[in-house]
Amino acid sequence: SFQEILLNCETCDLQDTIIYQLKKRYADLQMYTYVGDILIALNPFQNLSIYSPQFSKLYHGVKRSSNPPHIFATADAAYQGMITFNKDQCIIISGESGAGKTESAHLIVQHLTFLGKANNRALREKILQVNPLVEAFGNACTAINDNSSRFGKYLEMMFTPTGAVMGAKISEYLLEKSRVIKQALGEKNFHIFYYIYAGLYHQKKLSEYKLPEKKPPRYIDNDTGKVMHDIINKESYGTQFEAIEHCFQIIGFTKEEVHSVYRILAGILNTGNIEFAAISSQHQTDKSEVPNMEALDNAAALLSIGSEELQEALTSHCVVTRGETIIRTNTVDKAADVRDAMSKALYGRLFSWIVNRINTLLQPDKNICNAESGMNVGILDIFGFENFTRNSFEQLCINIANEQIQFYFNQHIFALEQMEYQNEGIDAVLVDYEDNRPLLDMFLQKPMGLLSLLDEESRFPQATDLTLVDKFEDNLRCKYFWRPKRVELCFGIQHYAGKVQYDAYGFLEKNRDTLPADIMVVLRTSENRLLQQLFSSPLTKT
Ligand SMILES: Nc1ncnc2c1ncn2[C@@H]1O[C@H](COP(=O)(O)OP(=O)(O)OP(=O)(O)O)[C@@H](O)[C@H]1O
Ligand SMILES: *[C@@H]1O[C@H](CO)[C@@H](O)[C@H](O)[C@H]1NC(C)=O
Ligand SMILES: *[C@@H]1O[C@H](CO)[C@@H](O)[C@H](O)[C@H]1NC(C)=O
Ligand SMILES: *[C@@H]1O[C@H](CO)[C@@H](O)[C@H](O)[C@H]1NC(C)=O
Ligand SMILES: *[C@@H]1O[C@H](CO)[C@@H](O)[C@H](O)[C@H]1NC(C)=O
Ligand SMILES: [Mg+2]
Repeated sequence: SFQEILLNCETCDLQDTIIYQLKKRYADLQMYTYVGDILIALNPFQNLSIYSPQFSKLYHGVKRSSNPPHIFATADAAYQGMITFNKDQCIIISGESGAGKTESAHLIVQHLTFLGKANNRALREKILQVNPLVEAFGNACTAINDNSSRFGKYLEMMFTPTGAVMGAKISEYLLEKSRVIKQALGEKNFHIFYYIYAGLYHQKKLSEYKLPEKKPPRYIDNDTGKVMHDIINKESYGTQFEAIEHCFQIIGFTKEEVHSVYRILAGILNTGNIEFAAISSQHQTDKSEVPNMEALDNAAALLSIGSEELQEALTSHCVVTRGETIIRTNTVDKAADVRDAMSKALYGRLFSWIVNRINTLLQPDKNICNAESGMNVGILDIFGFENFTRNSFEQLCINIANEQIQFYFNQHIFALEQMEYQNEGIDAVLVDYEDNRPLLDMFLQKPMGLLSLLDEESRFPQATDLTLVDKFEDNLRCKYFWRPKRVELCFGIQHYAGKVQYDAYGFLEKNRDTLPADIMVVLRTSENRLLQQLFSSPLTKT
């Protein structure tokens, strides 16, 4: 076992030893390996026949050493731990993008659902639909993984004291909203846009949702001109659409709600097609107008708002000074920014609404068990560490989140473990590990950490992405930060996983993430109840 290797390995290079063992096991298609409480899972990139109900049975309530290492054993350990010690449990999944975290999370949910067999079959069915549904809205194709999570997800499965599953709850973090309006080269928008496009095409409902049949909307179009061809011909899109409709239905969304969701998605796609042109009058040159009303009218109709009001809110804004309201016009660039901010806000709030709605539909039935006596197993699956050719604000956020998880791992694998050895007087080799606390401090400290500096700079109207990088350079004087010569908006960070270079272009705007009040006001007048709700209720954490 690895424990033996660790304890007997005074001179050998630990990392080489582990990698050698993992490679050897991988060659025999042994994907799983234990190191203490930790399961190392390699990505087989092929379908292994080791996840059937027979395997769930095999790993049910037996000693870990009775069977080869398996992800079901990890799920089983959490479940048995919860029952035995009457204590909530948590499984944390970490790894770079494409490593197989989300697939692993599914397998854990699958096995926990098997273990928590309530008589309530309907509930089990519902819980199994949660991941596919939120992932259709929160996953997308990236350069690294064509099913990449673009949000962080914490799924809690709730059980009665006797271990029957009684409900579930999701929390979502940091959805990559900017993907709605623009994607990097070779990447795509969130899956759901292609799924509904294909589904509505096959149902001959594109015109009902004011989606064109020839040229795809700008938000999902790309240079190759192949997008529409794919939407029409790729069988998987159509199948996924049906799967999503099925998920909505099983979990308990009403037909009316699903219809509203589709209208909002189609509304977002039409919003993206609104274009602006400059008009110059005698006194002003910074006014914009919408030369072609089609997209605007379509968006307004789908969102059930007035098209004139929408145009107003896009091309002008109110300023209140000394109790007086003055209307200022928006330049073409400003109007386009407002349009995109609106699309991002619509998508982000729609996503949160879906998550909240799922939580309501899956909350424990008070007649079965009061929530206090219940226990849960939580599964954390976030977006993995990323290093693209161009890394922007989103990659920085994702990598900071992974840095935080790495810190948690270090604490549990090394720091706490070694303390325990020492307390028990076990003479184990102290393993040298890289403590990433100093780097986390560089990010998170107030008021001089990178994120605080970013917030501060975001509040200065005259600030630019360049002044931001200057500010970083002036204040972050440590070995984890550097500024490459000759690349203006670039800075580098020495992460736990290695060096990553970031391009600060657009950082301030993305961090501000503002939605003009004028847009809020218009969206609140929507006759679509769901939309009204999205912009009326105060934002909660999820
Ligand atoms: N246990 C597995 N069996 C078969 N294939 C797998 C398994 N785990 C992962 N894969 C394959 O690897 C791909 C990527 O896995 P996954 O989406 O889970 O990565 P991830 O770690 O969640 O990445 P990201 O951080 O980008 O979300 C899957 O689409 C699947 O093809
Ligand atoms: C695994 O099986 C699924 C369906 O059973 C199939 O769609 C997929 O392409 C397979 N993946 C691999 C890597 O063989
Ligand atoms: C992506 O993941 C979802 C669920 O998370 C799954 O239903 C779907 O089949 C996957 N898609 C691809 C293309 O692998
Ligand atoms: C454009 O989309 C097609 C099909 O959807 C995809 O194969 C291709 O990689 C994309 N190209 C770019 C440059 O984004
Ligand atoms: C990120 O990519 C760059 C360029 O390919 C490479 O030099 C660097 O080592 C990579 N960093 C990580 C953490 O993988
Ligand atoms: Mg994932």
